[in-house]
Amino acid sequence: MAITTTPKRTLIVGNWKLHLNTSQASLLLHRLHERIKIYRDIEVVLAPSMLVLQPLSVQIDRRKFRLAAQNAFHKDTGAYTGEVSFAMLQDLVHYAIIGHSERRIYFNESLEMIREKVASAVRNGITPILCVGETKEENRAGETKQVLHDQITSALANLTATDIKKIVIAYEPVWAISTFGGELAKPDEVKKRMDFIRHQIADLYGKRAADRVRVLYGGSIDHDIASGYLSIEGCDGVLVGGASTNYQKFSGIVDAAYRLRYRDGVE
Ligand code: PGA
Repeated sequence: MAITTTPKRTLIVGNWKLHLNTSQASLLLHRLHERIKIYRDIEVVLAPSMLVLQPLSVQIDRRKFRLAAQNAFHKDTGAYTGEVSFAMLQDLVHYAIIGHSERRIYFNESLEMIREKVASAVRNGITPILCVGETKEENRAGETKQVLHDQITSALANLTATDIKKIVIAYEPVWAISTFGGELAKPDEVKKRMDFIRHQIADLYGKRAADRVRVLYGGSIDHDIASGYLSIEGCDGVLVGGASTNYQKFSGIVDAAYRLRYRDGVE
C-alpha cells in the first residue's frame, strides 16, 4: 500500500534536555533570534526545561519560535507532589515531547503511562511529539518493527482519527541518540522505518491520517548531516538534542532546511 505524503511545513525541534538555567536559556534564545529569520514553511520549536518555559514565553518572538515541554503529568490536578500537568502548560506551549527514550529508560515510563500522557496532551490542546525507536539489542535481534508497532499502537490507542492528524511522531533509534560523532542511522534505513510508521498509522486510522501525521527523525543530528535526513521523502523535520543548545549548529540546521525547501522550489 503506497502512502502519498503531502509536503508540510518543516518542523525543527530543539530538545534542550537538562541544560541551561534561566539566564543561559535567555542568552541562547537571544542568539537564535539574531540568526533565525521568519520562514513561512519552517516551524522552529524550542523545548527548554520546565523552569525556563515561563520566562522564555515572555521573551520569545512568536512569529519565529514555538515552545514545547519536554514532559508533563497526565492528571490535570490533584495530590501529585512535584508534578506539572499538561493542563497547566496549555497557554505556554504548542507541543510536548512524550515518550522520549530517556524517559522510558531512566524514569521507567511504561507504554500505558505514555498513552495517558498522549491523551492528556491532546485533551488539553497540546500537540504530542511522540518519540519511538528501538534499542541496539532490539535492533540486533531484528525486533525493530515489533517495537515500533507496540509503541505506536499503544500510545495512540485512545485517540480518534481527527486527533491523529495533528500528532507528530519522531523516529529516534535509541542507539543513534547523542553518539557525539559515533554511530549514525543511515538515511535509507531511516526512510524504511518512517514508511513503516506511516503504514502503522494507515492500518489504524486510514491513509489520509497517515499522510497528515508529521514524522520527524532524531539521533545525533547536527548542521553537517541534517540535510541528509531532511531530504528523505516523507521526512517532515528533525528532533535535535545535543546540537540544539549551540546556536551556530542549531541555526545551521534551520539554514539547511531552508536551502532544501528553496532548492525544491517550495518557498
Ligand atoms: P541528540 O538527541 O540530537 O543529542 O542525539 C536527540 C534527542 O534525544 O531527541
